[in-house]
Amino acid sequence: MKHEVHKEKSWAVIYDACLIDFPGPDFFSVDYWRSRQALTGEAVGRGSAWFVEIPGPVVLRHYLRGGWAAKFSRQSYFFTGITRSRPFREYRVMSELFELGLPVPRPVAALCQHHGVTSSGAIMTTRIDSSNTLADSLNGDELVKGVWTSLGRCIRRFHEAGLWHADLNARNILLDAEHRIFLIDFDRARFSPGKPVNGEGNLKRLRRSLTKFWPAGDVSAFQSAWAQLEAAYDK
Ligand SMILES: Nc1ncnc2c1ncn2[C@@H]1O[C@H](COP(=O)(O)OP(=O)(O)O)[C@@H](O)[C@H]1O
Ligand SMILES: [Mg+2]
Repeated sequence: MKHEVHKEKSWAVIYDACLIDFPGPDFFSVDYWRSRQALTGEAVGRGSAWFVEIPGPVVLRHYLRGGWAAKFSRQSYFFTGITRSRPFREYRVMSELFELGLPVPRPVAALCQHHGVTSSGAIMTTRIDSSNTLADSLNGDELVKGVWTSLGRCIRRFHEAGLWHADLNARNILLDAEHRIFLIDFDRARFSPGKPVNGEGNLKRLRRSLTKFWPAGDVSAFQSAWAQLEAAYDK
């Protein structure tokens, strides 16, 4: 990976120069890719993730304006604020995790924009081929045997590495065709490399999410799955 940062008056990008040439704000625009017939789909989530061929499959996500924009725009020193912006932070966290060999999509680029009193941003990551979210897999195909043990171990690895996921739910876990597990969505995540974190809160959040997506009436299967996950996590 070769991270390059480029700053203009009202926007800045960070990108992996091993993957792409310098991207301007257009590169993060859905209309831009649509007009080039490069938009291949949309993901279910909080509502703004698109599948794009740049070429090569990537996922483009826009940050919804919220607390982030409000807080950010109060800072008059835009240029130092940029590195602390949510897109830039998420890009950095993902690249550090990726370089450590943890199972996350490789980040491609992030954009932070400043318009008058508000800010917006986007991030692009490589798409995990033939993947489904864990939430979808619960209701669709049979889950492969051992998936709960693998997931428990996987989450443990992240916590041991120093990663606190801010929203570990069943839609932020991907399974690919080879049953490999990936964590995604590191918006607001906290990463202190080498400092193991207490993952209790993350597990609690995940448990709640699983009960929400679990097929109705299958309580004992849920309990067994969760016990397997916890046992693998605790080992
Ligand atoms: N790298 C990726 N590969 C495949 N699908 C992805 C990838 N990143 C995100 N997605 C899909 O997009 C959805 C939304 O992305 P996510 O990063 O969770 O953002 P948010 O939850 O903020 O909308 C995910 O639940 C998943 O279905
Ligand atoms: Mg998500």
